[in-house]
Amino acid sequence: MADQAGDPLFQSQDPIFDRKELLHVGHVPDEDRIVGRDDEIESVAAEIGAITRGDPPNNVMIYGKTGTGKSLISRHVATRARNAAQGNGIDCGVLYVDCSEANTETRTTRQLALSLKDGTDYRENIPVRGVGTMEYYQHIWAILEDCFDAVVVILDEIDKLDNSNILMQLSRAREARKTDAYIGVIGISNKVKYRETLDERIDSSFGHRELFFHPYDASQLREIMRNREDAFQPDVLADGTIELCAALAAKKHGDARKAIEILKEAGELARRTGSEIVSEDHIKQAQEVAEINRIEELTSGATVHAKLALYALASHIITGERETYKTREIYERYVGICDLVATDPITENGLYRQLKEQAFLGVIESEKTGGGRSQGSYLLHRLVTDPKHIVKAVRRDASLEELPTYDRLAETGPATGGHDTDLSSFD
Ligand SMILES: Nc1ncnc2c1ncn2[C@@H]1O[C@H](COP(=O)(O)OP(=O)(O)OP(=O)(O)O)[C@@H](O)[C@H]1O
Ligand SMILES: [Mg+2]
Repeated sequence: MADQAGDPLFQSQDPIFDRKELLHVGHVPDEDRIVGRDDEIESVAAEIGAITRGDPPNNVMIYGKTGTGKSLISRHVATRARNAAQGNGIDCGVLYVDCSEANTETRTTRQLALSLKDGTDYRENIPVRGVGTMEYYQHIWAILEDCFDAVVVILDEIDKLDNSNILMQLSRAREARKTDAYIGVIGISNKVKYRETLDERIDSSFGHRELFFHPYDASQLREIMRNREDAFQPDVLADGTIELCAALAAKKHGDARKAIEILKEAGELARRTGSEIVSEDHIKQAQEVAEINRIEELTSGATVHAKLALYALASHIITGERETYKTREIYERYVGICDLVATDPITENGLYRQLKEQAFLGVIESEKTGGGRSQGSYLLHRLVTDPKHIVKAVRRDASLEELPTYDRLAETGPATGGHDTDLSSFD
């Protein structure tokens, strides 16, 4: 590349990355880079595969935590099914809707109608505004009738939809003589309880199978990353870096997206520090940054009081000997910390509600302990992550950067402005 013409300022080759786009968040890997999900691919194919032979497919719901390949595998299998069907002379379409954006029935049906129309010779105008759900359904049935034998509809993040009537409409369309085309629905959610929220009528007419995608283990994550090694220049990844990255990500969450992000961040770190290789140290640092970002993302919508509550719990854990603390203990320390940042504390009950919200977000875990009510049961809270990360994430809030750093907490013990609690009195 050195002899390339042009401004020399921009001529030097990236010393670390060769094809960085392979590590971008939105990047959809080619078929031959999808690894470790063969069984899941086969299971999804078994449910919708009948469509390729001109037979009715099953509907299927895919559940699993974030970054377990649900969206990727669904699109992959649906596309392959469409190609196979077309090879058999069947006019088959694939529709994808992200219901976290199209979160009402009207928005979803509008998007379905518009993408169905795309590329067909359907002449009717589909208005973007001013019409209701029923009109969009009518377009959907008409386009299916005119142009398709079958269609696979992927409803991603389906739990974000404000009602699930669309499931009934799609699954009963043939029966209700709206269209002769076969419709196979793949619903995706990371809430396993989604089915319980479905109306009984909808649940029975949707009559779906359920598949569960489990978090990736270290060897699967290793393969996923190995398959993208060419994002880096040759010999830049030191021995053992991918293994370490996979091990760390598997231990935390088994999330492929996060694993890839850590690898990318490690490369950025190496480049920023002028290193010629990406080392295990870069991976460890990148993992810390990723974890702090994750916590910051989770808490970004939280109030200052929730952040202070988290900080109070973290500082207990750093300076104390236990991993779990009672609401009361967290509250007492929180009051002291409010003093430090000149903020008026909320009530203990208010703080309790903030803690519950954080438990919901997955930043802390709360567990009821003790006997029945009369014996005074109480909640014990623990952090799901390293308290160091909480301290860092909370201090990123400009109004809270005066709070003691992790190192100071670890060195000097409780720093709560004189409101420190005698822990023994709560045991
Ligand atoms: N088996 C795999 N092989 C290669 N890359 C993968 C695999 N699984 C996931 N990935 C990568 O991880 C990213 C996240 O996967 P995906 O979006 O499918 O997860 P998800 O389960 O839908 O997560 P969410 O619940 O957050 O939407 C993908 O963009 C892809 O780059
Ligand atoms: Mg997804």
